[in-house]
Amino acid sequence: MEAINDLQGRDLLSIADLNHQEIDQLLTLAAQLKHKEIEPRCSKVLGLLFYKASTRTRVSFSVAMYQLGGQVIDLNPSVTQVGRGEPIADTARVLDRYLDILAIRTFKQEDLETFAHYANIPVINALSDLEHPCQILADLLTIQECFGSFSGLTLTYLGDGNNVAHSLLLAGAIAGINVRLATPATHQPDPAIVKQAQSLKHSNREITITSDPLAAVKDAQVIYTDVWASMGQEAESEARIPIFAPYQINAELLKQADSEAIVLHCLPAHREEEITTEVIEGKQSRVWQQAENRMHAQKALILSLLDT
Ligand code: CP
Ligand code: NVA
Repeated sequence: MEAINDLQGRDLLSIADLNHQEIDQLLTLAAQLKHKEIEPRCSKVLGLLFYKASTRTRVSFSVAMYQLGGQVIDLNPSVTQVGRGEPIADTARVLDRYLDILAIRTFKQEDLETFAHYANIPVINALSDLEHPCQILADLLTIQECFGSFSGLTLTYLGDGNNVAHSLLLAGAIAGINVRLATPATHQPDPAIVKQAQSLKHSNREITITSDPLAAVKDAQVIYTDVWASMGQEAESEARIPIFAPYQINAELLKQADSEAIVLHCLPAHREEEITTEVIEGKQSRVWQQAENRMHAQKALILSLLDT
């Protein structure tokens, strides 16, 4: 296995913690693992500290670790002291002494940064309100599998300017994919992330932030959406439906895209809200391949961050 030496011991709090070459290397390793060209072993212990619900991330991290020969400890905050108010700084210094690597799903990005500051082991952002870098590694793997490379591709994301949108925007800038984000004017991405993406962008790539879903989808090769109300925003779910309705991925909208376009969704999906059943179950959908790739991409990430 070709180790990605530069990643050993590092944290992944943002997809922008990786440069173009590191992303390429991770995707190559993920593909080798997926196709069982290599079957490395790693007898290490991964902690999962998840303050929000999860199916894909929890299970794909767990299975990845088991397949590598390592162990997983589920540090459910409702039964660990950090959930009762033990300071993150204290928890981080203790977990650092037991675990080899820690994946955290939480609300505030600052909490992840505090964990990473106080723990020397690699800390992985398994989703925060700001970003979802592990998801985007799997998305890039899926896009690469479908198109062979990123060259000349345009990815259009429709919906909320949320964590997934932020990581896609940054990843597109780093990996060299044109990214168009179509969101309601009231739910645009964080301007600081847009500015960061602009600064990382290849000179000949485009970043477009618009409220026009039709223009955004036109001739794009990757059409992507996510839930309209993220975890923690459940109280706004009903009120958001009419605001986001024009951004639904449906067959009519999809006609505007490239005829070879694929449809991605990080899941869980709300059918007939952000995506129709017809589209998610249709021939352009790659959502199951995308979900499977979570495991392969995270296995590559674990191996690269750990000193195996
Ligand atoms: N896409 C994703 O992160 O799914 P889970 O919330 O099920 O982990
Ligand atoms: N934006 C969604 C992603 C779920 C995987 C959320 O944060 O709930």
